[in-house]
Amino acid sequence: MSGRIRLARNLVRVGAFIQSLAVAVMRPADLVEFSRQSYARPENLEGWSEKSLVDSGLNDDERELLTQVSGTGDLLLLGLGGGREAIPLARMGFRVTGVDYIAAMVERAKENAVCRGLKIEGLVQEISELEVQENAYDVVWLSRAMYSCVPTRSQRVAMVQRIASALRPGGLFLCQFLWCANPRQRAKAERLRRVIGIISLGNFSYEKGDRLLNNIEFVHEFSTEETIRSEIEEGGLSVLRIRMSSLTNRGSAVCRKN
Ligand SMILES: C[S@@+](CC[C@H](N)C(=O)[O-])C[C@H]1O[C@@H](n2cnc3c(N)ncnc32)[C@H](O)[C@@H]1O
Repeated sequence: MSGRIRLARNLVRVGAFIQSLAVAVMRPADLVEFSRQSYARPENLEGWSEKSLVDSGLNDDERELLTQVSGTGDLLLLGLGGGREAIPLARMGFRVTGVDYIAAMVERAKENAVCRGLKIEGLVQEISELEVQENAYDVVWLSRAMYSCVPTRSQRVAMVQRIASALRPGGLFLCQFLWCANPRQRAKAERLRRVIGIISLGNFSYEKGDRLLNNIEFVHEFSTEETIRSEIEEGGLSVLRIRMSSLTNRGSAVCRKN
C-alpha cells in the first residue's frame, strides 16, 4: 500500500474515532435531548407519519411478537411515531395509548388513526420517565429496537420498573433491542471513550455498545443475552423468552409481570 493510501486510511480511522467521542461527552440527559431534537426536525416528523409508512403496518418480527399475546385489552405503545403500529393494533381490537416525546408526532398519529376510522389515545412523555396509571395495561409494546434508545443501565432498569408498575398482573412487556454479536469496538478505543466521558464531565456511565446511530440518535447495542436479561429482571419482570437474530442486528424479549 502506498504511503498516501495508508495515511488516508489512518485519517478516516481517526475521523471515525473523533466522531465516536460525541456519545461520551454528553451526559445521559443530553443524550436523550440530542435524540429528541433529531426526531423533532420537520423531515423526521413528516417521515414517520408519511402515508405509505403508516399503512405499511406491522413487520414480520412484530407479528411474531404478537403471537405471544392471547386476546386483546389495553395496550401501551412506547415510541408512537406516526401510528404505523398503533393503527393495526387498534384495528385488531386493542385499546391503544401511544407515548412519544414529540407532541406533534402524537397529534399526527391520532389524526392518522381518525382518518382510518379508529381512535387511539396519546401521551407526550419521555419513555424512561413514564408516568401512567398503575395496573392499567395488559401489554406494553416497545418495538423498532427502541429499548436501546435509553442511555445507561440504571435508567433502563428504572424504565422497566415503571413498565412493570403500569402492567396488570400477568401482563406482557414485548420489546425489541439492538444487538451486536461481534462488537468491533477495540478495547483501547473503548477505554479512551470512557476516559473522555469522565474528564469531559460527560457520560460517566459510558458503556461498551453506546453509540450515536447515524449520528442522530443515542442507542445502546447489547452484546450478550445475559446483560439484557439481568436489566429486565432487576426491573421486576420475568423474562419468558429472548431471541437474537444472527441475520439482523435486532433482538426481542417477551416478559411478564407475575
Ligand atoms: C424509530 S421511530 C418509530 C416510530 C414507530 N414506532 C414506528 O415504528 O413507525 C421512534 C419514535 O419514538 C419517539 N421516541 C424516541 N425516543 C423516545 C423517548 N426516549 N421517549 C419518547 N419517545 C421517543 C420518536 O419521537 C419517534 O416518534
